[in-house]
Amino acid sequence: MWISFAGIITNYKDVKQFLVQKGHKFRSDTDTEIIAKLIKHIHGLHPNYSFRELVEQVIQQLEGAFALCFKSMHFPGEVVATRRGSPLLVGIKTKTKLATDHIPILYSKDSPEKVELKEHSKLKDHRPHGHEIPAHGLARSQSTSEFLPQGDNKEVEYFFASDASAIIEHTDRVIYLLDDDVASVEKEGVLKIHRLKRTLEDTHAREITTLKMEIQQIMKGNFSSFMQKEIFEQPESVVTTMRGRINFDSETVVLGGIKDYIGEIRRCRRLLLIACGTSYNSAIATRQLLEELTELPVMVDLASDFLDRNTPIFRDDVCFFISQSGETADTLMALRYCKQRGALIVGITNTVGSSICRESHCGVHINAGPEIGVASTKAYTSQIISLVMFALMVSEDRISAQPRRSEIIQGLRNLPDQIKEVLELDSKIQEISKKVFEKKSLLVLGRGYNYATCLEGALKIKEITYMHSEGILAGELKHGPLALVDKGMPIIMICTRDNVFVKCMNALQQVTAREGRPILICHKNDQEPQKYGSSVLEVPKTVDCLQGILTVIPLQLVSYHVAVLKGCNVDCPRNLAKSVTVE
Ligand code: G6P
Repeated sequence: MWISFAGIITNYKDVKQFLVQKGHKFRSDTDTEIIAKLIKHIHGLHPNYSFRELVEQVIQQLEGAFALCFKSMHFPGEVVATRRGSPLLVGIKTKTKLATDHIPILYSKDSPEKVELKEHSKLKDHRPHGHEIPAHGLARSQSTSEFLPQGDNKEVEYFFASDASAIIEHTDRVIYLLDDDVASVEKEGVLKIHRLKRTLEDTHAREITTLKMEIQQIMKGNFSSFMQKEIFEQPESVVTTMRGRINFDSETVVLGGIKDYIGEIRRCRRLLLIACGTSYNSAIATRQLLEELTELPVMVDLASDFLDRNTPIFRDDVCFFISQSGETADTLMALRYCKQRGALIVGITNTVGSSICRESHCGVHINAGPEIGVASTKAYTSQIISLVMFALMVSEDRISAQPRRSEIIQGLRNLPDQIKEVLELDSKIQEISKKVFEKKSLLVLGRGYNYATCLEGALKIKEITYMHSEGILAGELKHGPLALVDKGMPIIMICTRDNVFVKCMNALQQVTAREGRPILICHKNDQEPQKYGSSVLEVPKTVDCLQGILTVIPLQLVSYHVAVLKGCNVDCPRNLAKSVTVE
């Protein structure tokens, strides 16, 4: 038995106990092994079951979030794959055109019920007797043969993956499976999708989607890691985020995915921004502008904490779910929680067809292109731009907001060139990184719009360098963090000319008075803060609400260089995953 498994099985101990009682021996303490042993056990009880029926039996016993792909020597030439809570797609490669752009769902005539695994219980025979009945009453032969390629060459290859970027080099045609879909490829090379039970919300077919991704988008090219490539892609990725949405001459912004909901959004009680990790930091980065331009109360929450609190949600709330992958379990659960309570759900994702995308009422695709490095970089800057565009769109009808809107739109226009300028600091940042890479800790200080940069910079450093790092609001310095400051404590401080500049200078002096010699990120040619820094990284000036995009890039580069100097795996940091599809 060959199993490819992503996710977590929460009841694996119960299943294991049951199988041990049945005489199965285990070589590991992993949840993966119980899946292999369980299918073996059911096969022993019911040798006549098809491969797909065995898998259907297995998943009825499993609790948790998973994507699974099975192969077995007992069923040569067959593959069965299924998902619940974790993403899974099927790529299809054929020499000739397919005769259809969808594949109908097949249901078993008698819906098998779930069997509880109890101490002495025996897995019952829940084999769906009778034949499969496709939805809409399509005959079985119709539904399957239609799917084969047209013409004489019926050759077809299937690819199973969690993310489209893993298969794009082979094919651009994919089917996104939904929870509890069981996809099977049988000997003749025919793909079928089954579901155990028919529910009211079921659509009756899965569409074959053509990906718009280019192969070069997922190749490293001359870069040493995907993360480095993605940092350097930002002058282009911010442009793709804005493309077709901002008209810089007429100063108008249209987000096609939410334009029909703008009226409802303007009338709402409050905005809630809910996310995890870097995506949460993008909410912090834009909160102030959203408050200013929408004149609405804006709540920002970490999805896990939001759920822990059973937060009250009302029908006239508008809830934003920000997620690069669109699959983060906590964010998705928070979405379902708010949807159930009648709020309007807006998804901000980078992954077309993702769960968050599908389950939202409306949304914005950030169009940053595939992000492969676990540490998010270009998605963060594109998330900020997407939320800024949203604020601009909502405030279009406010005459008093026009000068501010105009200043921001022109700021966005200049951003790509300014990002290029910041990226030129790379070799200087590499030198600075050599001075800090052996230290134990690195504090990142700032306030106002740059506070999100502090959080995000510290998160990048923690994620890929394993060094302790903390983003600290400069206003909180005297409430604790000042005790950490001495001449040995490495500090990065962001001090740009905005409405909190004077307060930042004050914090800077507090730090230097305790012999701290921070590395400063400040505006080009701004002499005043520079005299207090051990080294200075000068960034171009932009509008306050966009400044965080230019100040975070040096920190992305610091984390990258420190990780390289420490010999860490930049793209795949230990213990972390790109998509956290479990709670
Ligand atoms: C994981 C990743 C982070 C990411 C977070 C949220 O923890 O390692 O880089 O920021 O998930 O992911 P999302 O896909 O929802 O933005």
